[in-house]
Amino acid sequence: MSFEEVVKLVENKTGIQVVGARLARIKRLFEQDPMLFIGLERESIDQHRWQRIIDALSVQETYFFRDIEIFDCIRQQILPEILKGSYHKGVKIWSAGCATGEEAYTLAILLLETIRSLGYSPQTEKLLVLGTDISKRAIDKAREGIYKNIPMGSFRNFPGEFMKCFVYHNIGYKLKEEVLNITRFEVHNLLDAYPPIEDADLVVCRNVLIYFDEVSKEKAYKTLAQALRRNGYLLLGPLENPGMGFERRQCGRLVYYVKP
Ligand SMILES: C[S@@+](CC[C@H](N)C(=O)[O-])C[C@H]1O[C@@H](n2cnc3c(N)ncnc32)[C@H](O)[C@@H]1O
Repeated sequence: MSFEEVVKLVENKTGIQVVGARLARIKRLFEQDPMLFIGLERESIDQHRWQRIIDALSVQETYFFRDIEIFDCIRQQILPEILKGSYHKGVKIWSAGCATGEEAYTLAILLLETIRSLGYSPQTEKLLVLGTDISKRAIDKAREGIYKNIPMGSFRNFPGEFMKCFVYHNIGYKLKEEVLNITRFEVHNLLDAYPPIEDADLVVCRNVLIYFDEVSKEKAYKTLAQALRRNGYLLLGPLENPGMGFERRQCGRLVYYVKP
């Protein structure tokens, strides 16, 4: 298989545009380990090989409370609306393209905090924050729930009030059981025809589709939309728009969408 064919195949399978630094990384891998790419077109290809290619390609930069203004809006507006409407039924949130889990855990921390601030007590068996990513390595790290406190690391933007959600661990900080109990992680490709969750109240997919070509973006919008219940909320990146009759709403700088 030529390098050009490899690039096409990888783009079709992941949605990620193989250009610039990503192209250079795949080229280096192709030159260093050509065996890795043999039979890549077969559906039955060993997942371990795919995962090495995905990890060379994907950008897994993330941190807790990545954009404070957005998480303020989720805390002040979106979660209270969800909880007032459906707390008795339970709450389901999907963090799609969660990398090493910081976004999913931020949502879980805010969900528990908002439940308490509204005077309810968390019934953890009725709460779920699902984090998914195409990278198994990222998901394995997310499942550990342990993060080092290093400069420019996961805690670079962390509001001190939520340190109560962690316990000290010998290499860093571990999420407390209460947060771990409502959070789950799975490997999932956003280009799959089916979402990994249904009837979700809130779906967050940020800093993921910016790397996608237009056709793959449209496919991903369908999967994200399919995961939501009617009147469920969808948060994308600033230049992304799901179309499909979604209602556009605004909260400060944040634009979000509500499923018709
Ligand atoms: C920059 S991180 C964003 C993490 C988090 N959403 C945030 O905003 O901090 C992008 C993540 O998208 C994942 N990703 C890329 N293509 C994907 C696909 N087709 N399906 C699922 N995840 C994908 C990458 O593996 C990477 O971990």
